[in-house]
Amino acid sequence: MARPPLDGTILVTGASSGIGRALARLLAQRAETLVLVARRRDRLQALAEELRAARPALKVSVKCCDLADPAAATQLAEEVESELGTVDVLVNNAGLGDFELFEHARFEKLERMIQVNVLALTRLTHHFLPRMLLRARGGILNVSSGLGLTFLPGLAAYGATKHYVTAFSESLRLELHGTGVVVSQLCPGPIATEFLELSGNPTGRAVPSALELSAERCAELALKGFARGRALIVPGFLMKLVLGLGRLTPRFMLRIFYRWIGGYLRRRRQ
Ligand SMILES: NC(=O)c1ccc[n+]([C@@H]2O[C@H](COP(=O)([O-])OP(=O)(O)OC[C@H]3O[C@@H](n4cnc5c(N)ncnc54)[C@H](OP(=O)(O)O)[C@@H]3O)[C@@H](O)[C@H]2O)c1
Repeated sequence: MARPPLDGTILVTGASSGIGRALARLLAQRAETLVLVARRRDRLQALAEELRAARPALKVSVKCCDLADPAAATQLAEEVESELGTVDVLVNNAGLGDFELFEHARFEKLERMIQVNVLALTRLTHHFLPRMLLRARGGILNVSSGLGLTFLPGLAAYGATKHYVTAFSESLRLELHGTGVVVSQLCPGPIATEFLELSGNPTGRAVPSALELSAERCAELALKGFARGRALIVPGFLMKLVLGLGRLTPRFMLRIFYRWIGGYLRRRRQ
């Protein structure tokens, strides 16, 4: 099984917070060069300083980019390639969610979500993959979600973006079999980051603490699976169990259960 070259140049999107920042900290122990991408420059610069201080041999490049802007995403890819030649590993982690009944969602937010979760991930992969193939060496870690493997009311558009990431990653992995380029996808359950706060939570209930992992633990398990070239990484035993049971349950039974949740969300909204 192909393994990603984690000692080369690695680009991490969404490195200013949460899972991306935790992944960057771990990757910094092995990479030659790290490229940190997100919008919040101050956070990226602080992380870059921290990483350089911990390992002076590491080269760190900070790239501020709004990945919801297609032109900016293309410019980022071109800039990185002209400055660094290529990237050996691409971590498509940046993403946002929207937890809301669909008709109440702000369309502008949905549009940005699709741009970042789907289009930017596709654009960056399309840009960097040919060079990886030429060198017969590379790795792509796409951050999907447990929702890429199932569905839930209140998360119609977000879930759909993650179904895209899952289908894209699985298919691309098969296309690339035997080329030296490995594609893995990470499908986490709830992770304690800024994500849940930014997504909104119309249930009025906290995430069950037994299901929630820290960003650090999620990143640790993600990297362990990616380093081994795993196709699908679901961090945490309980989440593996929940998703496994969900996949074994007939769809009509899931619909009955989830319909109840949909009704609950609607009653709360009213
Ligand atoms: N947390 C969870 O429960 C959970 C569960 C399953 C999957 N995920 C997935 O995990 C990934 C990381 O999320 P997280 O939990 O670490 O959330 P987070 O703490 O909110 O981090 C999201 C990252 O994405 C970046 N980002 C968002 N919009 C961007 C834009 N327009 N341009 C550039 N960067 C942008 C943010 O940086 P700036 O704001 O600085 O731009 C930030 O670094 C996402 O793809 C998410 O869908 C999360």
